[in-house]
Amino acid sequence: MSRAKGFISFEGIEGSGKSTQTKFLAGLLQSKGHNVIQTAEPGGTRIGGEIRKLLLEPQNHMEPLTELLLYYASRAQHVQEVIAPALKQNSIVITDRYTDSTVAYQGHARGIDLNLINNLNNIVAPDVQPCLTFLLDMDVEEGLKRNKKALKEDRFELEAVEFHNRVRKGFHKIANEEPDRVIIIDASQSEEDVSSEIQKIAEEKIYNIFN
Ligand code: TYD
Repeated sequence: MSRAKGFISFEGIEGSGKSTQTKFLAGLLQSKGHNVIQTAEPGGTRIGGEIRKLLLEPQNHMEPLTELLLYYASRAQHVQEVIAPALKQNSIVITDRYTDSTVAYQGHARGIDLNLINNLNNIVAPDVQPCLTFLLDMDVEEGLKRNKKALKEDRFELEAVEFHNRVRKGFHKIANEEPDRVIIIDASQSEEDVSSEIQKIAEEKIYNIFN
């Protein structure tokens, strides 16, 4: 699988502030003159939005394999319709979640064979892997508390703390395996401090990405 220049992802557990920081980085790069597409998974397309509803509805009792394949159905559409065309035009694409979420949630937390997930990655997004990933890391219970405050309760937020701890460990494992791609950021800091860390990394690694 190969990494795509200009493709950046944000990953992390529930409540780690990914969507805020995705927005922050998109604005920052736009101010430097880049064309930026800001997107998210599951979703990012009309079909993806419909699949997202199925995935997050708390009343849907879903088989792990159904869940996995729905994430990949959403991703296949997202890659073909949005991500690959934007990268081809030298836009920067910033996504709130991508394949690392599948490895962490469906692989490490649900227990689906990682080889199966890798095979699906190879089919759905062989050349569309991020060149840089920000992993917003923090204590699971603190993250879940933040989401409760925001009155957010989807099918995943209702999972036990142990499930989310397995997700967090899964993300750590990915970061250990690919330290040149995945940068761990302490997301328990204030929003401003997280943003300024991201800005520093952007200065080192992103501003000149197409030069
Ligand atoms: P969302 O409301 O976007 O949550 P968050 O703000 O935490 O990103 O819901 C997405 C949920 O889907 C989230 O709980 C993580 C889960 N998910 C997976 O389990 N596998 C995946 O491949 C992706 C992209 C997300």
